[in-house]
Amino acid sequence: MKLKRMVVGLGERSYSIWIGGGILPRLSQALQEVNFPKKVAVVFNPLVQSLYGGTVAESLQSAGYEYHQIIIPDGEEHKNWTTLQKIHDGLIAYGFDRQSGLIALGGGVTGDICGFAAATFLRGIPYVQVPTTLLAQVDSSVGGKTAINHPKGKNLIGAFYQPRHVHIDVDTLQSLDAREFAAGMAEVVKYGIIRDKSFFEWLSQNREALQKRDTEALIRAVKRACQIKANIVEVDERENAQRAILNLGHTFGHAVENLSGYRTYRHGEAVAVGMVVIAHISQRLDLCSAADVVAIRQLLQAFDLPVMPPDYPIDAYLDAMMRDKKVLKGKLRLVLNRGIGDCLVREIDEPATLFAEALNNIQ
Ligand code: NAD
Ligand code: GLY
Repeated sequence: MKLKRMVVGLGERSYSIWIGGGILPRLSQALQEVNFPKKVAVVFNPLVQSLYGGTVAESLQSAGYEYHQIIIPDGEEHKNWTTLQKIHDGLIAYGFDRQSGLIALGGGVTGDICGFAAATFLRGIPYVQVPTTLLAQVDSSVGGKTAINHPKGKNLIGAFYQPRHVHIDVDTLQSLDAREFAAGMAEVVKYGIIRDKSFFEWLSQNREALQKRDTEALIRAVKRACQIKANIVEVDERENAQRAILNLGHTFGHAVENLSGYRTYRHGEAVAVGMVVIAHISQRLDLCSAADVVAIRQLLQAFDLPVMPPDYPIDAYLDAMMRDKKVLKGKLRLVLNRGIGDCLVREIDEPATLFAEALNNIQ
């Protein structure tokens, strides 16, 4: 059984990440190592419960944990107050106190809401992330952003609250459907573009193994992605500066999601489109070459991701982008790629011209 360990170094809030194939049964071992409370509740949706709930229950119960479970509905539309209250209701019913902990088993929706439930119950109880989608393994489970949605927008209510441990079994990705897998790959490619050209090239060379979900290849990709994310979070936990680079392609991507009503595109798919648009803008600003733009586009397409922006009016795109969290004093700020493997955040003076040109060039 292959196991890679790393640490997210945040002083007293530091935590371990374990990455491996077939390591779900070792969850109790990891919890013991981090002195996690002995009374736990696992939060999952019915699908993830049916796939992996038994393995987790067995691991915890055989190690003597007092095990409870809280089932939440599947889907982004349930990442809200009602579900949060369901988790809190469960914790109260089971008599949870500060010597108890939560375990998020599932994708980013479960991780975000369970993390926020942990942050808010009794002013904070410990929790662990056990991510089972590729997106959650390479992004949402690391870094401590927890949230629920508000009817007016995604992730508007939340807290920075770090987990005690992140437990990543890449074998859980075997049951993921092809579209969810591809959507996660968009975030993996993102790490190569913003920080590591040789990783970008490695992804291209190992595309087939990754798409076949080869365990070794997955461990390597997830590990590098987590390392890059951890390094960024370690220097800017609360996104005062550098952490914003994790949002490459997200400003335009969020606009795509918003304009299409959050149903047509998976988040990662919209981000893939956004990264291609940004690559064109970066080229226009002399930050990267035409060959870089082609390489980015081709790699995303090779992972079965969309790269063509849907046909909405430029004003609609601009309107949606001005609601981005990175807008400061009415000015749009974009994460731009400098070549491949480096990036920067820049305030944009004439977004209308730049985006109109980029959208024309992509056609
Ligand atoms: P998700 O949690 O909705 O999971 C996608 C689908 O896959 C769900 O239907 C789920 O039940 C299913 N699933 C989960 N694991 C599975 C498995 N192993 N096999 C088969 N099916 C499985 O979506 P997601 O893409 O994982 O996460 C998206 C959420 O993550 C969004 O709410 C987004 O805001 C959030 N997010 C948070 C951060 C952060 O830093 N906190 C970063 C990125 C995204
Ligand atoms: N997913 C972006 C971040 O964690 O900051």
